[in-house]
Amino acid sequence: MTVKDYEEIISKRMKFARFKHSKNVAKEAVRLAKKYGADIKKAEIAGILHDATKETDADEQMMLIQKAGLQLSELERSSPKLWHAISGSAYIQVELGINDKEIIDAIRYHTTGRAEMTLLDKVIFIADFTSADRDYDGVDKMRKAADKDLDEAVLEGMAFTISDLAQRKLTIAPDTFAGYNDMAAQKAKHKSK
Ligand SMILES: [Fe+2]
Ligand SMILES: [Fe+2]
Repeated sequence: MTVKDYEEIISKRMKFARFKHSKNVAKEAVRLAKKYGADIKKAEIAGILHDATKETDADEQMMLIQKAGLQLSELERSSPKLWHAISGSAYIQVELGINDKEIIDAIRYHTTGRAEMTLLDKVIFIADFTSADRDYDGVDKMRKAADKDLDEAVLEGMAFTISDLAQRKLTIAPDTFAGYNDMAAQKAKHKSK
C-alpha cells in the first residue's frame, strides 16, 4: 500500500480537521527525518497513521487491542486519552497488515514517549508537537528546539506534557516518566563530560 492509499483509508475514519493534522504531521515527520537521518518513508507512514483510531469508538478500539494481543495496564485502562496510541498501533497491524516494528512502536508511543526511544519514535513524537496546524502556548519554543536538537525537543515535550497533566491533576503514564528520566539523565551525562 502507498501513502496515498493510507490517506484514503484514514480520511474515512476521521473528521477533516484531524485528517489535515495527520497530513501535517506526516509532512513535518518527513522534514525531521531528513534533518536527523531517520527513515523518510517510515516517518511519512507513521505520521499519516499516528491518529488513525483517535475518533474510533471505545468498543472498536478495545477490540483492535485485543485482536493484536496487546494488554492494557490498569492505568491505561482508566485513561481513555491513551487508548488511541495503543489501538492505533493495533489497527495498523490488524487492519493494514503493517508489521514494521519501528512504525508500530512510533505510533504506540507517540503520546507518552518511553525510555530508550528510537529515532523514529522521537521524530513522530515531535512532529505531533510541531506540525503546521499546532497552535498552543510554547509552540514557537518547541519548533525552535526541534530545529536545533531533537533530543532537547523531546525532553522539552515531555516536561511540557508532565507539567500540563500535573497542573490539571490528571494521571501521568509511567512511560512518560521513564522517557523523561531517560532523556534528562542523558542530558546530564553530556553536560558532565
Ligand atoms: Fe495522537
Ligand atoms: Fe496527533
